[in-house]
Amino acid sequence: MHILVTGGAGYIGSHVVKQLLEETEHDVTIIDNLSTGHQSTLDTLESIALESKHGDLRFYHADLSDFASIEKIFLTNRFDALMHFAASIVVPESVENPLKYYMNNTLNTTNLIRLCTEYKVGKFIFSSTAAIYGEPTEIPVKEATVANPINPYGMSKLMSERVLQDTAAANPDFNFIILRYFNVAGADVRNRIGQSFPNATHLIKVAAQTALGYRDKIYIFGTDYDTSDGSCIRDYIHVDDLASAHLKALKYLSQGNKGIILNCGYGHGFSVYEVIDTMKKISGIDFSVKISPRRSGDPALLISDCTNIKKILDWIPQYDDLNLICQTAFEWEKKTLHLSKKI
Ligand SMILES: NC(=O)c1ccc[n+]([C@@H]2O[C@H](COP(=O)([O-])OP(=O)(O)OC[C@H]3O[C@@H](n4cnc5c(N)ncnc54)[C@H](O)[C@@H]3O)[C@@H](O)[C@H]2O)c1
Repeated sequence: MHILVTGGAGYIGSHVVKQLLEETEHDVTIIDNLSTGHQSTLDTLESIALESKHGDLRFYHADLSDFASIEKIFLTNRFDALMHFAASIVVPESVENPLKYYMNNTLNTTNLIRLCTEYKVGKFIFSSTAAIYGEPTEIPVKEATVANPINPYGMSKLMSERVLQDTAAANPDFNFIILRYFNVAGADVRNRIGQSFPNATHLIKVAAQTALGYRDKIYIFGTDYDTSDGSCIRDYIHVDDLASAHLKALKYLSQGNKGIILNCGYGHGFSVYEVIDTMKKISGIDFSVKISPRRSGDPALLISDCTNIKKILDWIPQYDDLNLICQTAFEWEKKTLHLSKKI
């Protein structure tokens, strides 16, 4: 097959491309505007493609908002499936600049769906998020738990989900899998690719940056939650396990199965204190921690019910280990920190 991957130069997309190149015979074409993705990631993926000698890798430096350029890519290629990672993903920014999120996430996704129906690309795998649940009404969170996003980022993704579902209902040849990711963390275990955007706000990345002195201290937002140690608990999933779920999703759609929504997490979580303690232990560095008030909209607990993805896709996680997640994140920061300025 020929797989189109938007956002393949970014964090999660690059890990999926890596697995497609190493573990399948598929050809892969990436579209990315390199706004948060990196040329160095593409260079590494190119070496992986050469080394694995499976499918070909091609890259288009293009912005999804440029409909004419994107349509030209669909005209000159024959894609069998689309994996759509490209998006804006920073929650506070989405509150300050909602239109950026509705345009880059919802509008550009809608245009891609339109191109897929016009150019007969019948398999669409979409990166959604636990943010669509807002402050969830039940824990663990099921796919059927009420969706009630509390910020434009989550809403922009939920709206895209709806466009996908409505389009599939009206087009029998168009199918989708929506994967709702929980907290994605860690990096390639061979330390070739990782989360390269220095200002990313993910806790485990920030803890690694603090251990390495890129940040003076790390903040814990709220220590008075109704959890075992008072800090928030999240379901951290290693990026390579998340990537393998995409390969399983592709297989599932290739077998002619119909559209489905699946949570992607491990079904258990760790508190902020536990993450910080683990990062201190694996780095050997006792970095500074500051306790701050709660942030609005942070639920105490966010844990997936991942029964469906395991059962339906036969997905078997390999890296469900906080030590390994922190270790791989730390090694990646150590390797790439010189590219970032201290903040
Ligand atoms: N990282 C997480 O914890 C997490 C959690 C839930 C969901 N997600 C979803 O996963 C997807 C990937 O996230 P990520 O963490 O890899 O982010 P990322 O910022 O590392 O990757 C996004 C990629 O898309 C590219 N891009 C953005 N807008 C584009 C546009 N208009 N045209 C072309 N390319 C564009 C960027 O350059 C980047 O390479 C996103 O859709 C995000 O909403 C991420």
